[in-house]
Amino acid sequence: MELGVGEAFALANNAAATIRGAFGCDHEVLVVLGSGWAESVPTLEALSSAPVQTMDVGDIPGFKKPTALGHGGALKSISIGGTSVLLLTGRTHLYEGRGVHAVVHGVRTAYALGCRTVVLTNGAGCLRTEWPVGTPVVICDHINLTAHSPLTGDNAPAPLAGRFVDLTDAYNESLRALVRSVEPGIHEAVYLGLHGPHFETPAEIRMAATFGADMVGMSTVLETIAARHLGMNVLALSLATNLASGLSGNKLSGEEVIQVGKDSSEKVGDLLSRILIAFDQRKSEIVS
Ligand code: HPA
Repeated sequence: MELGVGEAFALANNAAATIRGAFGCDHEVLVVLGSGWAESVPTLEALSSAPVQTMDVGDIPGFKKPTALGHGGALKSISIGGTSVLLLTGRTHLYEGRGVHAVVHGVRTAYALGCRTVVLTNGAGCLRTEWPVGTPVVICDHINLTAHSPLTGDNAPAPLAGRFVDLTDAYNESLRALVRSVEPGIHEAVYLGLHGPHFETPAEIRMAATFGADMVGMSTVLETIAARHLGMNVLALSLATNLASGLSGNKLSGEEVIQVGKDSSEKVGDLLSRILIAFDQRKSEIVS
């Protein structure tokens, strides 16, 4: 049964207490590794200026090992220079049927642990035929067609904000500028989020194109809404794992998505590393 809003926030506070007990400190940044990004873990661990700490998410209240292909079940604590980073090696998707609060539990838990910046990554279908498969892009806006919101129900407990959250600048402009500074020429994309788990029909992709979408996927939008509700700065990155339905001669498969992620692991690990290093050096310049 879906949790109430108050219960969901209480569970996030519980989870944060468990993590604080294990890792012994609060954190500044949450990085969520989606399909195609989990292979970056060794690269990010190698960057850590402090010993890497790891928990199994199954040992943290409210978390469950993700069932999605290519998603890990660990929470890691790493340090990039002077920045403490929580690394979630997989996420819960709405299509896993655990409810909307489970989908955003990582974001709310990270907030309770002090994180005010979240980096969301995903593998996504690409509507731009001129962007090669394996291209990472920055999300600049989204269209939420999941038919859900993490803010459904009662208002969050005080002193948290009420439910009418402004999403005008959901994807933080100064974090996007930081990415452009380390990866000049990187494309910006509108991400359309759907419930899944089936892939789209070609007709749905034609609709998505007329709506102004560049990428399509099954994650990220609900986590972004939950993070913005808490005033966190959001950076989101997609890896184009395939051309969207009907745009190539090919049928779509989860295995292809995973394979492209594996083939791109060096590229996305390197990009994420450079972004986190730049964030550590220039975080005082980030405007909320
Ligand atoms: N559609 C939806 N989600 C996806 C896709 C897609 O084509 N590729 C990877 N995740």
